[in-house]
Amino acid sequence: MLTSLKSALVRLYRSITQPQPPRRSGLNGFEAPSAEREIEYWGRRRPATDKEFWEYYAHGEDGMRNTRDLIATLEKLDLPPEFSLHEIGCNLGRNGYYIHQRFPHARLSGNDVNPEVEARCREFFGDFADVMRFEIVPTQEWLEREVKAGRQYDVLVSVAHLIHVPDDSVEVLRKYIPQVVRRYLVLIESAGTHSPDSEWYKKWTTNANVHWFDRDYAGIFDTLELVSKEDQVRTRSGKQYAIYVFKKPAPSEGAEGNS
Ligand SMILES: C[S@@+](CC[C@H](N)C(=O)[O-])C[C@H]1O[C@@H](n2cnc3c(N)ncnc32)[C@H](O)[C@@H]1O
Repeated sequence: MLTSLKSALVRLYRSITQPQPPRRSGLNGFEAPSAEREIEYWGRRRPATDKEFWEYYAHGEDGMRNTRDLIATLEKLDLPPEFSLHEIGCNLGRNGYYIHQRFPHARLSGNDVNPEVEARCREFFGDFADVMRFEIVPTQEWLEREVKAGRQYDVLVSVAHLIHVPDDSVEVLRKYIPQVVRRYLVLIESAGTHSPDSEWYKKWTTNANVHWFDRDYAGIFDTLELVSKEDQVRTRSGKQYAIYVFKKPAPSEGAEGNS
């Protein structure tokens, strides 16, 4: 009680004393924050005792459904056994854990802004925390750095992550994501179901100030070849997700490829 009163006062104080980012209207009509503010939300340290948060990411129903869809999607791709896969916004690595069960030779890595993710991976998934390489860095920075270093991944994955990246980062995504993809980009992202009238939306956006940015990713990653787009509804929550598979086009004649 006292803690929530204190944090409300801190927020009020900050909103008065600190310059606020320009507000834009997101697809659902809420006021969209900047990347900086959204990263502050997600990067907040959440202790192991925040059971609702970590258990949701370890084995929540919607997440598990996304994981199963992701694995079914990967099974259809043309990949060598030791393919490299990086998940942006990987949280505690649930997707990686199940990918490892199905593709034990895949080389897995992920980045997130939440400093707890590797420790929570170990708590829920044991030694798998030594298999997946975690980095605590915002996706925007990670992309820029990987492109500068000339690194590429056979598969780049985002599951319910880009929906939390605000509009002021879209150009960074558009510019860098195709460059770090060697073969495929797989996205499982929410598609237009976060109604401001829903209890769920009120709980998270109004009370916790977390936001969703539903977008058409086919329009953003138009330098990649869209192989498929499938819509899926999660029965219990009624949320709708789109599964996109993009393929890196073969380099045109005379162009140099990255290895
Ligand atoms: C809804 S969760 C999805 C997590 C995971 N992909 C899954 O399928 O369970 C969104 C994740 O994105 C992370 N995140 C949000 N903004 C980020 C940013 N700018 N860079 C990296 N991670 C970010 C959050 O910390 C959180 O773990």
